[in-house]
Amino acid sequence: MKISFSGHAAPKKSTPVIFAAEGAKFGANAVAMDEKSDGHLSRAMKATDFTGEKGKLLDVVAPAGVKAGRVIIAGLGDVSLGDEKTQIELGGIIAGKLETLKVEHATIVVEMLESSKQKIAEMAANIAFGARLRSYRFDQYKTTATEKNRTGPIKSLLIQSSSATASRRLFEKKDAVAGGVCLARDLVNEPANILHPEEFAKRLKEMDKLGLDVTVLREPDLRKLGMGSLLSVSHGSKTEAHVVTMEWRGGGKQAPVAFVGKGVTFDTGGISLKPGASMGDMKGDMGGAACVAGVMHALAARKAKVNAVGLVGLVENMPDARATRPGDVVTSMSGQTIEILNTDAEGRLVLADVLWYAQERFKPRAMVDLATLTGAIIVGLGHHYAGMFSNDDDLCEALSQAGADTDEKIWRMPLDDAYDKMINSRVADMKNIGSGREAGAITAAQFLARFVEDVPWAHIDIAGTVLGSPKTAISRGWTSGYGVRLLDRLIADTYESR
Ligand code: BES
Ligand code: MN
Ligand code: ZN
Repeated sequence: MKISFSGHAAPKKSTPVIFAAEGAKFGANAVAMDEKSDGHLSRAMKATDFTGEKGKLLDVVAPAGVKAGRVIIAGLGDVSLGDEKTQIELGGIIAGKLETLKVEHATIVVEMLESSKQKIAEMAANIAFGARLRSYRFDQYKTTATEKNRTGPIKSLLIQSSSATASRRLFEKKDAVAGGVCLARDLVNEPANILHPEEFAKRLKEMDKLGLDVTVLREPDLRKLGMGSLLSVSHGSKTEAHVVTMEWRGGGKQAPVAFVGKGVTFDTGGISLKPGASMGDMKGDMGGAACVAGVMHALAARKAKVNAVGLVGLVENMPDARATRPGDVVTSMSGQTIEILNTDAEGRLVLADVLWYAQERFKPRAMVDLATLTGAIIVGLGHHYAGMFSNDDDLCEALSQAGADTDEKIWRMPLDDAYDKMINSRVADMKNIGSGREAGAITAAQFLARFVEDVPWAHIDIAGTVLGSPKTAISRGWTSGYGVRLLDRLIADTYESR
């Protein structure tokens, strides 16, 4: 979809979308269009009791005096144009409608009574951003036209406003972030026979085009580093484990912020095999790594003034004659030993070594890891909030704020010595599961905490928000790309120099 911005002019060969605020109030251009149609548009609103309620749409077909076959009126709610979230959602709702109507070219007329130029510019950019996110498709494996074209792809979207230049400039940054979200969604959607650790690493390597410094570590490197914990997960796989680092240097000499992602390209559970039902979703068990790739893409594409590094541990968890057995003991890069009592608790084994490596190698000023780590977090929070665990109140506060601002919601959960005790092992320094099913998301976090030294750190369990996520105005559902906007906002508001 091509998105462009211009000043106000009569839409040509393009479906107009205009706004009405609560009380069926139009801006000047909509009023002019209504007058041209001899009041057809306002009569249509009246006849259908359309009051301009936020997010409601009215499709007015073939209004007299207007060239277009239809005019879509979008309810804005408050005349003051609403907040960022509302505007992004409006963009998504409009794009969704245009798709179902199979409209190929549309012009969105952004205006309202007495709005400031700045507000108008922000609204135009946010609408474009929401439309772009909603228009995301993953259909390269559909071969029949009917399947592919159940809804139409919008070919072009022109956003008209009185602040075209300012909106274009604002949108450029948002577009970089949208690119990151779509990259994360693509990676999660890719099936595991295509996106195995080697292919994943290859795709990340290609991100050096954006100016990122990408390093791929292969099994011999990982063995040399002593990553016995991470390597134990992929013993049963025929694809090698990979660790990839992506460095963005836009912030001078300061220490980087590190993002660490779980990248299990498929999680069968290993010898502790998962039950069959919906195991297919486990192609998305690399959602943390996808999010890290997405946020690094965003930072590089919008040339963020910050130093950041993304690290991902890429492995496939398969049962095999060489696979790790329950009861095996492995030595992590930190030197601590782990008794693996359940091979399905593999994410923490991967993160243990990547977190350790991140600290040794990059001495970060803060570290955030993301992982589809536990089913237990879905039991606790469902699909609407991610769970956050942290050793630092300021970092939590910043993440919560970024979550509220981007509507990628996050809720803090406890860490406590009492939970830490639950992962003590009889034979090794620790075991990779707690006792029984209780506090499953917390014991997983406690495990990670044993590999974190003196650095502000947060662990975000995104099992529910990245996978099986609900349909929203800006996401078709199942995979949301959760986390990219959250972390990009964290950087922008907390770590980026202005
Ligand atoms: N990848 C899963 C967690 C998961 C479950 C993510 C459902 C998304 C949807 C993880 O590796 C796992 O299997 N965790 C186990 C841990 C248990 C064996 C201690 C779980 O949550 O059941
Ligand atoms: Mn597992
Ligand atoms: Zn897993």
